Amino acid sequence: MNKKFGYQKGKLRCKVTRQLSKENLPEHIAIIMDGNGRWAKAKKRPRLFGHNAGMKTLRKIVRASSDAGIKILTVYAFSTENWKRSQEEVDGLMNIAVEYFKKEVGELHENNVRIQVIGDVNGLNHKVQKAAQNAMDITANNTGLIFNVALNYGSRDEIVHAVRALMVQGVLPEEVTEERLNAELYTKGLTDPDLLIRTGGESRLSNFMLWQSAYTEFFFIDTYWPDFDKDTYYNLIEVYQKRNRRFGTA
Ligand code: FPP
Repeated sequence: MNKKFGYQKGKLRCKVTRQLSKENLPEHIAIIMDGNGRWAKAKKRPRLFGHNAGMKTLRKIVRASSDAGIKILTVYAFSTENWKRSQEEVDGLMNIAVEYFKKEVGELHENNVRIQVIGDVNGLNHKVQKAAQNAMDITANNTGLIFNVALNYGSRDEIVHAVRALMVQGVLPEEVTEERLNAELYTKGLTDPDLLIRTGGESRLSNFMLWQSAYTEFFFIDTYWPDFDKDTYYNLIEVYQKRNRRFGTA
């Protein structure tokens, strides 16, 4: 095995890649990318150093999701509560978002990935809105992985937004159904996450996909997001593939 180039000697020069079984593959994976700050602190570096490293991990995980044939990947990149962080960190995260969309859109488009942003987009600064919109426009007709980036996203805000939309439409109380509410969420048209991973050692949802995760399988792992890798990701998917989901049935 040639480690540097990732192919086996004497065989075709194709990359040797780990394959996941297609059986019981999760359709939608949601990820809370936590631990960037602590990862940076452990290295005596500023928090933004951690977020930049987190962006690199995100690139690998999007690629790994697309390679595995996952249909939808949703990542929690900036919450409605994250505005309470220092101005320096907020500005840095917004710059990372712009850089991410600009740099990644080409490769994602080549790989048939469709980029979507979920959350209160109007609350984001103009540069982020423009970069996100451009990435969404370029990839709008792609039919591979749907990659949702949750930015200025909060589940409670999302539900309030959906209820308001129903009221504006004049929907009567007896006409309010789960389906109608679902159709007004930022995630409209998408299936609920089958599997949710939170890195960074905390076991909570932090206002992420509260409605959508009613029957999601959760994995809370200690690894900080910058240290998360494809192998760990695929290992978790394999554990998920063995789980027995009953959706409330006996
Ligand atoms: C949580 O870790 C992480 C975030 C709030 C930001 C996540 C951002 C990235 C992974 C970079 C890619 C971003 C975009 C927009 C594409 P934390 O800072 O709360 O970590 P801590 O709990 O250790 O302090």
